[in-house]
Amino acid sequence: TEESDPQDPEQRHPQVQHRSLTGRHPEDPEQADHDDHEQEERQRPPAVVRSASAFDDALVHDAAVAPDTATAAEAGVPVDRMAWPQLQAAVASCTACGLCGSRRQTVFGAGNQAAEWMLIGEAPGAEEDARGEPFVGQAGRLRDNMLAAIGLSRGADDPAQAVYIANVLKCRPPGNRNPEPAEVARCEPYLKRQVALVRPRILLVMGRFAAQSLLGTDASIASLRGRVHSIEVDGRSIPAIVTYHPAYLLRNLADKSKSWADLCLALDTMAVRSDPNQR
Ligand code: URA
Repeated sequence: TEESDPQDPEQRHPQVQHRSLTGRHPEDPEQADHDDHEQEERQRPPAVVRSASAFDDALVHDAAVAPDTATAAEAGVPVDRMAWPQLQAAVASCTACGLCGSRRQTVFGAGNQAAEWMLIGEAPGAEEDARGEPFVGQAGRLRDNMLAAIGLSRGADDPAQAVYIANVLKCRPPGNRNPEPAEVARCEPYLKRQVALVRPRILLVMGRFAAQSLLGTDASIASLRGRVHSIEVDGRSIPAIVTYHPAYLLRNLADKSKSWADLCLALDTMAVRSDPNQR
């Protein structure tokens, strides 16, 4: 049921207002999403609006707060230089925040590491924590089905048809509570390195929390949808489309059509930016 969906980030601590990296608290994000959306429908923005990304700004990446990764430290390799095996090992042994005490296992990421599409969610839920893979619950199946409809899958060998999926947090927050800013700060170097290694041509940012974290804003999903954002990673600008979290869609089926529109915008963006020199 909706109430018992362990993956639903909209249900993470429903009493607790969302906290973004900026520390600002939208008054009623869910209602605001709808209100903003209705307004947005009336004043559709131009198709492409570049917004400044605060991804780099939001990353606390200096030695003082870099993840305490024993393997990386032993090897003397900073997170932003790690290859896939080192990065995966660093995440698996990470004790940089308190979530290491409650997790069953870390949830690194899944899919084709050469994928042109990269999807970013919030944090593992109970099922992901148990299985060590992102988006394996009901919400993940919905997302997989929607991706399949446009010819994409985690298992595809062809990078053009493949996706790589990762979360902002690699460990499950207890009781699916909202991630804390300090947890995000500790974990973000891992995500940033994943994005740098995958070198996706497009990012699909799912849900309010991931969008607010990655874009460094407390704006609603509704106001962030419908435009092409830009996220800088390793000096490279990657177009990013904000869309609803699939767990939200499970509870608000009427918004599925809007999620389709987001996928179409992503497809259009890919088509427009098909210059291979961009990669
Ligand atoms: N929700 C997320 O944001 N990520 C997961 O991996 C599962 C549910």
